[in-house]
Amino acid sequence: MTTASASLSRSDLEAFWLPFTPNRQFKANPRILTRASGMFYWTADGREILDGVAGLWCVNAGHGRAQITEAVSRQLQVLDYAPPFQMGHPPAFQLANELVKVAPKGMDHVFFTNSGSESVDTALKIALAWHRARGEGTRTRLIGRERGYHGVGFGGISVGGISPNRKVWSANLIPGVDHLPHTHDLKKNAFSRGQPEHGAHLADDLERIVALHDPSNIAAVIIEPIAGSAGVLIPPRGYLKRVREICDKYGILLILDEVITGFGRTGSAFGAEEFDVRADIITLAKGLTNGCIPMGAVLVNKAVHEAFMQGPDGIELFHGYTYSAHPAACAAGLATLDIYRSEGLLTRAGQLAKYWEDAAHALRGLPHVIDVRNYGLILGLELESIPGKVGARAYDVYLKCFERGALVRQTADIIALSPPLIVEKPQIDRLFETLATALRAAA
Ligand SMILES: Cc1ncc(COP(=O)(O)O)c(C=O)c1O
Repeated sequence: MTTASASLSRSDLEAFWLPFTPNRQFKANPRILTRASGMFYWTADGREILDGVAGLWCVNAGHGRAQITEAVSRQLQVLDYAPPFQMGHPPAFQLANELVKVAPKGMDHVFFTNSGSESVDTALKIALAWHRARGEGTRTRLIGRERGYHGVGFGGISVGGISPNRKVWSANLIPGVDHLPHTHDLKKNAFSRGQPEHGAHLADDLERIVALHDPSNIAAVIIEPIAGSAGVLIPPRGYLKRVREICDKYGILLILDEVITGFGRTGSAFGAEEFDVRADIITLAKGLTNGCIPMGAVLVNKAVHEAFMQGPDGIELFHGYTYSAHPAACAAGLATLDIYRSEGLLTRAGQLAKYWEDAAHALRGLPHVIDVRNYGLILGLELESIPGKVGARAYDVYLKCFERGALVRQTADIIALSPPLIVEKPQIDRLFETLATALRAAA
């Protein structure tokens, strides 16, 4: 077997432009992973790294699952590719049917994409087209949220609320977008266990936006049940339901971006179920194939789907990708769902949540820790920033964790954890011990 090895030279690193990475720093001191199995990665120099973030919130069933590899390999031997426009193949229909079975009630049709970003842009386009199909074509405004992350397409960064992801393209963002305020309030909610108490009223800002523009102009609200990439922002109690109520009041679609919260991260299969909030459209990716083949999906409810099926006969939605429902991805998705079901992984986070929460809150009191927040198998650990150097402290902790054998995620001065859902208690202990040691060393 050949693998990338420790022998990669500096010049070997040159051609690849790494995403969301300080390339020059990285290439001066690269971190190269060559192998993964279960809860672990191994580096080019043979070090074992405990995966504290399921790769990038996606490897929910753990690494190297033979059942998925074999299903993909079998599929590629039988049918490597089929055009998704005007043609179909069995695994595409099978996966759609299986997804609908695990999806929140009422979400009964699936549009396949290749990533979370594509799912988001697809969902926004469906929302706009839906209103138009029903004779409400004036509903063109989209509402996102400050600190929301919805991928990196122009639609996604426009409804997203992370300033560095928008800054350079500020003049090119799609028009007609408003943002709800974010819900992060450390003064009131620091060290909350589970959902914070304060902040449901922030949903009422949607009333202000509706009053400003008139409901007849508003198409959809898109939010993450738990905002992940902006640093783990857990919805205050009652907040999501309030957003839903206001959407219902004014005929606005609610898109839940479940790219991170989908497939068991919160303790339920989907955040919509965990927080008991009905979505019209749900965006998925990541855990859908356990991260091993790129794939995304958009779930829509009957009302959304039916409006498209009532118009003149012909193509109902002028949208799709060369690799929508790619046979290999469908095979990976089917095998992944099998594993989730047979191993009970879609609810396992709920069983471990209390243990996880206690381990997380034991970090309180360590140097520079200004917040610990948790939900399901998610941790957000916020550190006091070094004045004038936002992100430097958490980046140092990230590096120190990696040196000590744990992969964590860093955004600004927040460290996030979201391990594969197969994690065992001793591995949780080891993850938090490593983080604690790194925090002390970084102080
Ligand atoms: C909530 C959410 N939406 C969309 C995306 C974008 O997904 P991708 O990187 O697959 O395009 C992400 C990625 O982290 C995400 O967390």
